[in-house]
Amino acid sequence: MGILEVKGVNKRFGGLQALGDVNLSVAERTVHAIIGPNGAGKSTLLNCLVGKLIPDSGSVMFDGKSVLGRKPHEINQMGISRVFQTPEIFADLTVLENVMIPCFARRDGAFRMHALRSVRSEGGIRDQAEAMLADVSMLEKAGAHAGSLSRGDKRRLEMAMCLVQEPKLLLLDEPTAGMARADTNNTIDLLKEIKDKRPITMCIIEHDMHVVFSLAERITVLAQGTPLIEDTPDNIKGHPKVREAYLGEAQV
Ligand SMILES: Nc1ncnc2c1ncn2[C@@H]1O[C@H](COP(=O)(O)OP(=O)(O)O)[C@@H](O)[C@H]1O
Ligand SMILES: [Mg+2]
Repeated sequence: MGILEVKGVNKRFGGLQALGDVNLSVAERTVHAIIGPNGAGKSTLLNCLVGKLIPDSGSVMFDGKSVLGRKPHEINQMGISRVFQTPEIFADLTVLENVMIPCFARRDGAFRMHALRSVRSEGGIRDQAEAMLADVSMLEKAGAHAGSLSRGDKRRLEMAMCLVQEPKLLLLDEPTAGMARADTNNTIDLLKEIKDKRPITMCIIEHDMHVVFSLAERITVLAQGTPLIEDTPDNIKGHPKVREAYLGEAQV
């Protein structure tokens, strides 16, 4: 039994079956990648896991509880955090202030705008945010404006904002999309560090096979809304079914 169990999930958009009978089991403390060509249903599946979409049928259980029908912030409180394709940071605030915000949100149980105003006055939260930055090797950039960071460091900061909430499951939707190779490698290193240091499970949607094969322990290939194959990276690499699914779109 995995920490995340998806069973028989279907989702239609009008006449289009975006997800057809999806089953997925993600084991605790593993990195599980979901790959597949454009339009395969990867983002739709992710949106069903975080409460942004409700499947037409099927179940999604996390840590023994159903996520279906819960609001995104409730799912966040259950221990699921999501990292977006473009880092969601506050460009005008400092790196440290960015990490302090989710600490307030967590304490209050929901995101509150007053957190932004009182962000400078809370000693305990400042200490917590500094410790988090040290953990992701960003403490020396604590005073920098978030908007001035490189793409890789923005991703590092966003990750710190997630991890300070101590999620059990981190969902990443193409975390290296549009990045230069150096920033991609920076992100791979960061995710490896996180995995080694924390009791965390990661589910990563990714196009870049270098990232997938550097991190994943299990891979599910989605094609036309249905899992085609699930296996270890060694068995997925060069698998004819996978090549066929991509139709030359990416090198697998
Ligand atoms: N909100 C929506 N309304 C209608 N069709 C959608 C919507 N979201 C996604 N789709 C369609 O569902 C299919 C799967 O999309 P998506 O999950 O974004 O694929 P992927 O992330 O694998 O590229 C695509 O054909 C897409 O056009
Ligand atoms: Mg997508």
